[in-house]
Amino acid sequence: MNNNKLSLLQISDFHLFSDPRAELMGLNTHDSLDSVLSHIRSGNRKPDLIIASGDLVHDGSSAGYQRMEKMLGSLPAPVYCMPGNHDDKQRLRDLLGRQCSDRHNVCAPNRVDLDGWRLILLDTVVNGEKYGHISTQELHRLEQELDSAADRQILIFLHHQPVPAGSAWLDSMQVKNAEALFDIVDSFSPVRAIAWGHVHQAFEGERNGVRLFSTPSTCIQFAPASERFALDQTPPGWRWFELGPDGRLDSDVERLQTLPQCDHSAEDAQGYS
Ligand SMILES: [Fe+2]
Repeated sequence: MNNNKLSLLQISDFHLFSDPRAELMGLNTHDSLDSVLSHIRSGNRKPDLIIASGDLVHDGSSAGYQRMEKMLGSLPAPVYCMPGNHDDKQRLRDLLGRQCSDRHNVCAPNRVDLDGWRLILLDTVVNGEKYGHISTQELHRLEQELDSAADRQILIFLHHQPVPAGSAWLDSMQVKNAEALFDIVDSFSPVRAIAWGHVHQAFEGERNGVRLFSTPSTCIQFAPASERFALDQTPPGWRWFELGPDGRLDSDVERLQTLPQCDHSAEDAQGYS
């Protein structure tokens, strides 16, 4: 704990492959994640907990998840993993569906309670589809988690964006039933923020007093407000949240200092999806 505040780190969209030499649009995703984790490990800021918000293994391979677990295991805090549209949900659950412990600091729960805060990890993944959707069962769970939160502050994580990112190609893949999510969120006052990955870019906004955040990828970045697919010229990044016991929340994005090489000639998302 840092001065009674929780320091939460969000990392997202690693897009690892079974082969550590594999590239996504010309970028080695293993090396890129490795650089991000090294930077975090050697930095001044120490996380109390870490959320990995989906698209963790691009090809959904067992070898990819095993390597990911090893890499994330080097971090000095529990890492809570959630699936994205590129993941194999079942494989992720089979490997990491357990409680984090001193022995295993990488796990995949759907709720975390810590120091006055409740983090709800919401599943938006539809097997075989790129877009997001929250099942009736998951919406019901959300209501229950909010209802039983007592006086805890709430932070909701999901993979897909529930509001448009402003890029037509990306917004065809947003949460299709986001209104159902917001209907529930609007009726519970302690929801402080909703955060996601998927869009490979940083965003900050607000809706009815609930703060909204997206987090960059640890590999390739998508150009903001671009109608068509385009990569952005920004380095891999991650997001910090400082969570106060009174519900106060501060957030900022950090990035690697150097822009890694990748293939900017691609004119559509074929190489990504
Ligand atoms: Fe992604």
